Amino acid sequence: AALQSALIKGRRELRGQQQKTMFDSIPKDLNRAWEDPIPETGDRHLADELRGVGLSASNMPEWKKDAYGKALTFGQRSKLSIQEQRKSLPIYKLKKELIQAVHDNQVLVVIGETGSGKTTQVPQYLAEAGYTTTGEIGCTQPRRVAATSVAKRVAEEFGCRLGEDVGYAIRFEDCTGADTVIKYMTDGMLLKEILIDENLSQYSVIMLDEAHERTISTDVLFGLLKQLVKRRPDLRLIVTSATLDAEKFSGYFFNCNIFTIPGRTFPVEIFYSKQPESDYLDAALITVLEIHLTEPEGDILLFLTGQEEIDFACESLHERIKRLGKNVPELLVLPAYSALPSEMQSKIFEPAPQGGRKVVVATNIAEASLTIDGIYYVIDPGFAKQNVYNPKQGVESLVITAISQASAKQRAGRAGRTGPGKCYRLYTESAYRNEMSPSTIPEIQRVDLGITTLTIKAMGINDLFSFDFMDSPPPQALISAMQQLFSLGALDEEGLLTKLGTKMAEFPLDPPLSKMLLASVSLGSSDEIITIIALIETGNIFHRPREKQAQADQKRAKFFQPEGDNFTLLTVYEAWKAKNFPLPWCFENFVQSQSLRRAQDVRKQLLSIMDKYKLDVVSAGKDTTKITKAIIAGFFFHVARKDPQEGYRTLVENQPVYIHPSSALFQIQPDWVIYNELIMTTKEYMRNVTSIDPKWLTELAPRFFKVANPTTLSKRKCRERIEPLHDKYHEPNSWRLSKRRG
Ligand code: CDP
Ligand code: MG
Repeated sequence: AALQSALIKGRRELRGQQQKTMFDSIPKDLNRAWEDPIPETGDRHLADELRGVGLSASNMPEWKKDAYGKALTFGQRSKLSIQEQRKSLPIYKLKKELIQAVHDNQVLVVIGETGSGKTTQVPQYLAEAGYTTTGEIGCTQPRRVAATSVAKRVAEEFGCRLGEDVGYAIRFEDCTGADTVIKYMTDGMLLKEILIDENLSQYSVIMLDEAHERTISTDVLFGLLKQLVKRRPDLRLIVTSATLDAEKFSGYFFNCNIFTIPGRTFPVEIFYSKQPESDYLDAALITVLEIHLTEPEGDILLFLTGQEEIDFACESLHERIKRLGKNVPELLVLPAYSALPSEMQSKIFEPAPQGGRKVVVATNIAEASLTIDGIYYVIDPGFAKQNVYNPKQGVESLVITAISQASAKQRAGRAGRTGPGKCYRLYTESAYRNEMSPSTIPEIQRVDLGITTLTIKAMGINDLFSFDFMDSPPPQALISAMQQLFSLGALDEEGLLTKLGTKMAEFPLDPPLSKMLLASVSLGSSDEIITIIALIETGNIFHRPREKQAQADQKRAKFFQPEGDNFTLLTVYEAWKAKNFPLPWCFENFVQSQSLRRAQDVRKQLLSIMDKYKLDVVSAGKDTTKITKAIIAGFFFHVARKDPQEGYRTLVENQPVYIHPSSALFQIQPDWVIYNELIMTTKEYMRNVTSIDPKWLTELAPRFFKVANPTTLSKRKCRERIEPLHDKYHEPNSWRLSKRRG
């Protein structure tokens, strides 16, 4: 401990940074790829520090070596056979009781520590008990990664190939077959299924897993399934949760019984930063190395906020370890985030190398959805990326926010699954007590409700204000979602779904994207738009390694199109396609091959939906206007006009915004642009920007730009349009709200 504190003290002094309160500013990391977050001297400091306290693996104190030896015995579980592993789970002893409880209770809340076996075992137990003779067992996961990795694991335990008896379905990927009886899926997928068959007749059991995550889809499913269990007395509903929400869940579901799996956890020692960290990423990387060099065996789990940050951290850890020389034990660095291809994801479950250890650098997915054995050390910088919707601006942005105390506890708990562990919180104890909220706000209360509103309306539920939500969304957010759907043409003046809206609901896309796609069919550019959407859905396709940034930027600039970034994406894909999809081409051009391949898959999925609904796939050829117009048809409310002073201003809220430096239009700065999303870093940046002619706005969004001068679109006009929606139903709440807004 003395060593540890000396090291931390040394680090503080050496870094000599100006201290800042941890939570008073949003970190710049979203922009990290464009800045150089760790100054060159940073690495040198680290090496100096380590040398300064005389640390290297070869002179590790005796007691530490001893502890190393002891820790090895903990690793034995992975040597058990897979069936022995199943029997060693806490839930195993309660198998009979669980089956009985499901038999006796139509709705059951199941709680237990993460890793007790709920997700992997409950469906298998129920399959053994005969529930698959009358239907499938469907188990929802809030996250894609969890659905796929758990399905893979359960298929292995079940003794079948993935996609046979055990399968999974996630957006744009269906890995189930005629034999599938246990189906893992994202909650969003079940929501799509319930849209097609409101009775979910193919299922005998639905398990809403990880319900405490309170994703918007799970919350909507709560309401829909609460009705469905009344219609289908044979259906069993299981709601599982890792935490304290059991009473609330039970209360909501007719005061149903709660089944508790006693936990098996070890104590976790918590360390706080003495002072706020000014650069949590750097602090996290140093902590990883400190643990690796000074602590007994055991794997490390580091929580970061997103893909870019994680890739950067992994690369940086590799480099730093390399620089420390050969005497340092091996450190296997493994990233874990949703967009990672599944081969890479499954690596995190493999045991650490002999004599070395692994560090998993993960997003929130490792907080509860994924259970990795052998973690003894958790590093928690206290941040997560969250979707936050601002109904006033009508924009949703992914922002890095402080996590809640509940999340922090959950994260710490991950260190105590295999043995007594340690959790390093890179924030002060006072920040934890005074600045973090006790629990996370359910997604439904903070995100854009566009697709949710569309889905619920498509279920034939028109009155959203009396929908039985566990926690109601803010009425303002519902109104603005309806307003948006109205201007997109998905709802009519009376708030009912239009034909277009019904079609839009068929696509697993946000309303602006599905509108853009459907508009492109009539505009004659659907071929290109499908590609663009596939690439937008894939996320970042460019690779920008730290040591080759200039070269990467140069290559990227070659793809730039004067029309904008969506066109740049399209050009990359077309160039790759023209060469017949080769891998080396991706390396040469600093393009992420996995992303392109994923985009190819998404494209295929979209094409098959197009085919199903007999929608034409037509190419615009050289006529780029047709493509731009389709983009406008979906994103018209994201218009910005050049500000004579500096940057741009949004048309709707007159908010100052800027073109992101990575954009093809950064140099050009056209007079009028449309953007796909806003990201908040140092400034409010527009990402995926398209240059437009403002006269197209009235043509493509007649419900939004009715007024002669769109720049003076008044609040009153907005209100006028929304009023008929509510008049029809005399919804007192919303009516009052819309009055008050004036
Ligand atoms: O759902 P819960 O957190 O209660 O536990 P689980 O996800 O069913 O995990 C039980 C055990 O299955 C874990 O301790 C892991 O050993 C194992 N598992 C795995 O090896 N690979 C996965 N993808 C998921 C679970
Ligand atoms: Mg689970």
